[in-house]
Amino acid sequence: MRILVIGSGGREHALVWSIAQSKLAKKIFCAPGNGGIARQAECIDIKAEDIPALLDFVKKEKIDFTIVGPEAPLSSGIVDEFNSRKLKIFGPQKKAAQLEASKVFAKELMAKYKVPTADFKVFDNAEEANKYIDKRGVPCVIKADGLAQGKGVVVARTIDEAKQAISSMMQEKIFGAAGNKIIIEDCLEGEEASILVFTDSKDVIPLASAQDHKRVFDNDQGPNTGGMGAYSPAPVVTQGLFKEILDKIIYRTIDGLAKEGIVYQGVLYAGVMITKDGPKALEFNVRFGDPETEAILPRMKSDLLEVMLATSENKLNKIKGLEWDNRSCVCVVCASGGYPGNYEKGKAISGLEEIDKMKDVVVFHSGTKQRKIYDVGQKTEIEYLTNGGRVLGVTGLGNNIKEAIDKTYQAVAKIHFDGMHYRRDIGRRAL
Ligand code: AMP
Ligand code: GLY
Repeated sequence: MRILVIGSGGREHALVWSIAQSKLAKKIFCAPGNGGIARQAECIDIKAEDIPALLDFVKKEKIDFTIVGPEAPLSSGIVDEFNSRKLKIFGPQKKAAQLEASKVFAKELMAKYKVPTADFKVFDNAEEANKYIDKRGVPCVIKADGLAQGKGVVVARTIDEAKQAISSMMQEKIFGAAGNKIIIEDCLEGEEASILVFTDSKDVIPLASAQDHKRVFDNDQGPNTGGMGAYSPAPVVTQGLFKEILDKIIYRTIDGLAKEGIVYQGVLYAGVMITKDGPKALEFNVRFGDPETEAILPRMKSDLLEVMLATSENKLNKIKGLEWDNRSCVCVVCASGGYPGNYEKGKAISGLEEIDKMKDVVVFHSGTKQRKIYDVGQKTEIEYLTNGGRVLGVTGLGNNIKEAIDKTYQAVAKIHFDGMHYRRDIGRRAL
């Protein structure tokens, strides 16, 4: 099959890397891809949001199956566009993608179908939101309704912080129209986990559990990022808890959507807080997590492409369940100096060839690009340069979480670029 993967992050590199191992894949393209993805796929210069150009490419290149990585094209309706032209694509339609694109939609659906989640109120007026804060007090969590690249959630510990968040979302409009409405909800305490499932709306096949590290610094300090590392499995999610999360969060949500006339096809990702009163849904994503995917897919022994095809063809019942490597997997993100704030690009990355020689380690690229270096003998060499905030996801497998951590950090120690920083405690919580 001829495959197109849409996106340019570590998640897409992990998807491409995994699909490249499928006997069904003959040729893989990635739009726009990155320096590392170019090792397994032909990268094409089309942005993930440019749906007309992607459609043209798919027709011209006779692509058999398209896989969407990020949320933006999903919430703009790329799947609806492909479906109406009978082009095969993996991901939910626009209506289903509201689960991520509108937190108000997601919370109201959860309330209606009794999915356990933090108690909440919706506001479309800053003055009323402020009055409510005075009445209810803190801590509380303020969330912009729309997409805000993972930055639209503020856990407020003081009244000032809460009001500042309301003002920047609703009055300064730092996220544009995404802040027209906000949610104010109870602050939940506990351990977080990411539960991802494949579903075609009838059947559900879970992936292995994972845990993400959102804050930039060790011990969960500093601002939120897109994710600084992940590990799989998440030991906090025992078998009993996994089943409870599937029953109370995943099935109720998919069935609730179906009752609203919305068919969900693709990967559904629930961010869950394991509280002392049981698991509660924090949020939904309508796509694979990043960096969770980098920690999950190296453990997947089943053919990813086969499962994705079955999902999009409504034939998930033909898949007998997924096979997993029992070992643990850890992914440590190496980021540019300054990230998640401003950072420079174009720094040369060294050490990658040394990691190529290591067993059970793979480096997924996020923000990188290739540069060809021509020497006088006309031989070319490829150099990798930084090209984004999150640069690399160094990923290692071990017989247990400790071995996976050690292996991964041995590999991280070989990587260097100007300004590089990373967390030194990824996975430590699981020990
Ligand atoms: P989200 O962008 O919705 O994934 O939220 C980002 C992060 O904010 C989550 O991973 C949690 O760490 C935190 N968060 C979101 N909602 C709550 C809540 N109700 N209570 C405590 N923390 C929360
Ligand atoms: N790892 C969080 C996300 O993918 O949104």
